This record gives sequence, structure tokens and C-alpha cells, in this order.
Amino acid sequence: MKYKGILEKYRDFLPVSEKTPVISLLEGNTPLIFSGRLSELTGCSVYLKYEGANPTGSFKDRGMTLAISKALEEGAKAVICASTGNTSASAAAYSAKAGLKCIVILPKGAIAQGKLAQALIHGAKVIAIEGNFDDALGIVRELSSGYSICLVNSINPYRIEGQKTGAFEVVDVLGKAPDYHLIPVGNAGNITAYWKGYKEYKGKGRIDSLPKMCGFQAAGAAPIVEKRIIKEPKTIATAIKIGNPASWSKAEEAIIESFGRIDKVTDEEILEAYRFLAEKEGLFTEPASAASVAGLFKLKAEGYFEKDKTIVCILTGHGLKDPELAISQTKPPRVLPRDLDKIIEKMKL
Ligand code: F0G
Repeated sequence: MKYKGILEKYRDFLPVSEKTPVISLLEGNTPLIFSGRLSELTGCSVYLKYEGANPTGSFKDRGMTLAISKALEEGAKAVICASTGNTSASAAAYSAKAGLKCIVILPKGAIAQGKLAQALIHGAKVIAIEGNFDDALGIVRELSSGYSICLVNSINPYRIEGQKTGAFEVVDVLGKAPDYHLIPVGNAGNITAYWKGYKEYKGKGRIDSLPKMCGFQAAGAAPIVEKRIIKEPKTIATAIKIGNPASWSKAEEAIIESFGRIDKVTDEEILEAYRFLAEKEGLFTEPASAASVAGLFKLKAEGYFEKDKTIVCILTGHGLKDPELAISQTKPPRVLPRDLDKIIEKMKL
């Protein structure tokens, strides 16, 4: 059957009716890639779900296709979001397709270039504030309540509904639930969504066990781990630089109910995993996405995983989102004259 995006594929699990004008860029259906190296390291079967393969390069498209379709169905003329970058890129693209106005509030200077470029080129009205993501979210919450603009951050329940399809896809490919589900945590919508997805599949008898949900925050932005609001979050993983996550209690629920864990990984650990994924797995992710694999290395070192289990790590966004970071982590290319001998000389490994 021709692939038509997650709303058509998982229609029975989603609040979509004949009346819903489906706005889709054929999101979802992302690769679940087996990692021989990580499997050998852990003694488990490890799979990497490459969400960077979504149309705007991150998992946000799963939630945005539904949030924008419903906004249109409900007669909205404009949508608004705060963002560390990916939500705004996705909201801008889906709004463009839907013919909706899109307003984006960003923390100034804290958005990776690729994401900013996306929001701008899709025609969103982009406003940068002097403040962090948490401040921006506070502002859009106020604006959306007073001015009949539809809020498309993950506090919009349709975002979570759409994103839960990631869990369905994992199960549909594996034929079962994984034993451990490792995921980066920022505003905590995605861990909430995956847990909801797994539980719904179990409720329908599609799986008979549930994974342990293991969430990873950046060490300088780890409010759930430290059980306190972080006023000035700090991390190179700008996507998850969040000090007061909107879905905090839902994330805690997922972790407690699943007997999983919430932990933090340092920027060094994130960068090590980021480089590992690029250099050894051929997967270019943005740094926040590598937090799940940084978490895998950390839990492995602690002897956390039982042998012969199945582990899924979610790689949330594409590496091209943050080209500056990739460049900063590598050596610039050598510049040589147009001289074959000199080039051959330098090609020697
Ligand atoms: N990874 C990436 C690449 C993200 O962009 C985000 C969140 C997360 C992980 C964390 O997901 O918030 O559901 O816990 N980005 C949001 C944004 C906050 O505005 O794009 P979460």
C-alpha cells in the first residue's frame, strides 16, 4: 500500500475523522537500524530509530501533522510555539502547507542555524526573546490563551497523540516491545508520548510486555533528575536546554510505571556518543539526539542491562540541523595547490 503518513497509517489510534483535513508531509516510517557494535558492547540487540529521516529532520513532525490538521479543523487562522528549534521548524513547514500563519518565539542566540533557517524559509514570523526556552514557553502560553491562536507546543495533546506513533512503528518492526527504551528528555513530551503509545498497543493486545523507559537529560539541564527547576540551564545540546519541562510529571509517571530510569549525561559524554554515531554507525544526528546513546554507554558501564534483551535508542533529530557544532568537532579540510603529487602525498593514510 502507498505510504500516506502517520495519520492514515494509525488512524484507528488517533483522533482523526472524515472531517479532519489531513496535512501531511509523509512523516514517520523512519528507519529502525540494527547496531552490531552496540549490540556486541551490551550483549543485547540494539536498534537505533533515526528520526532525523522525518521531512523536517526531527521527530516533531509526528506530532505536528496532527496538531496542524486539528488546528485547521477547528478553524484556527494562526498557530504559535516556543522552541529550542525543531518544534518551530516543523510548525513552520506544516503551517506553510496548511496555509496557516505561524508565530515562533525563540530564545535569542540559542538555536542551531539549520533550525532557524527552516523556520525563516517556511515563512514563520520569528521573534527572538532575551531569555531562555522556559521564558519563551511562558510567553506563548499567555499569548495563546488571550488571542485565539492555537498553541502547538507539546502541551497541546494532539502533539503527544501524533508522537506516540513512534512506539507503534518500533513494535511493528520488531514484532514485540523492546525491553529498554532509551530517549533524550527536554520538555519531556516525547518520553510521555512513547510511553502512551506502548501502553495503548498493550491495551489492544499487540504486545504483552512493556519496555523500561530510560530518559536522559543533559547534565547542565537536568531538572527531573535533580528534582528542581534549573533557572539557567546549560548544555551544548541546545535542543534539550530546558530547565522546567512542561511534561515533567508525565515523564516521572512513565519512568515509575515502567520501572525505568531518569539520568543525566555530560556534554562530553553527549559529544562522544555524537561522534561515535557519525564515525562508526554512519548516522549524523544532532547532539541532543546522541543523549540516548550516551545514556546507553553510561548504563552499560554500570551493568544495568540484562543480557540478550532488546534495546531501542531514539535518535531524535538530524545532524544537519547543527552544522556549526559538527564543524567545531572536526578539523577543517586541507587546502592544497592543484598539484597531483602533493594531493597524492596527503592522501596517504
Ligand atoms: N531531541 C531533539 C532533537 C529535540 O528537538 C527535542 C526537543 C528533544 C530531543 C527533547 O524532546 O522536549 O519531547 O523531551 N525539542 C523541543 C523544541 C523542545 O522546541 O524543538 P522533548
